Amino acid sequence: MLTSWFLLPLLMLLAPAQQQPAAPPAAIPAEAVHMLNPVKPTPEGMAQAKKIYGYDCAMCHGATGNGKGDMVADLKLNLKDWTNPESLKNRTDGELYYIITNGQGQMPGETGRAKPADIWNMVVLVRSFSAH
Ligand code: HEC
Repeated sequence: MLTSWFLLPLLMLLAPAQQQPAAPPAAIPAEAVHMLNPVKPTPEGMAQAKKIYGYDCAMCHGATGNGKGDMVADLKLNLKDWTNPESLKNRTDGELYYIITNGQGQMPGETGRAKPADIWNMVVLVRSFSAH
């Protein structure tokens, strides 16, 4: 809910710029790419990650991680299908952590909303979508 209020005016502002070819995603700093997950997943941690995912992520990435959430059509997003193990094969945990924290392109980041430990657990959750 909050996300759409935040995004809509932003998208209206950006609309004319969408005619231009998309800029390449901003580079992720090397030290962020190589960060290892310091958090050991626990049932409580994973439950919390799923809760946050339901509120902040599923509307775009889909409840099952298939990239077909409710906002995809409105925002004309082209999201990866995380149920396919190929989709995140070339990404490190550090890259996923960095993107979830800072956002990328049309995706808002979790900075100031989720704690770092929750974000690391979301990295594990996102990867787990391809396991079933
Ligand atoms: C407004 C829609 C939107 C929301 C909400 C959103 N994302 Fe994204 N996400 C995107 C888009 C678009 C990209 C591709 C960004 C790019 O490459 O420019 C992306 C990329 C990613 C990536 C990088 C891997 C990939 O598939 O490209 C991860 C990991 C990710 N999102 C996780 C999350 C998590 C976890 C949340 C919730 C905390 C979330 N996203 C919320 C739209 C969204």
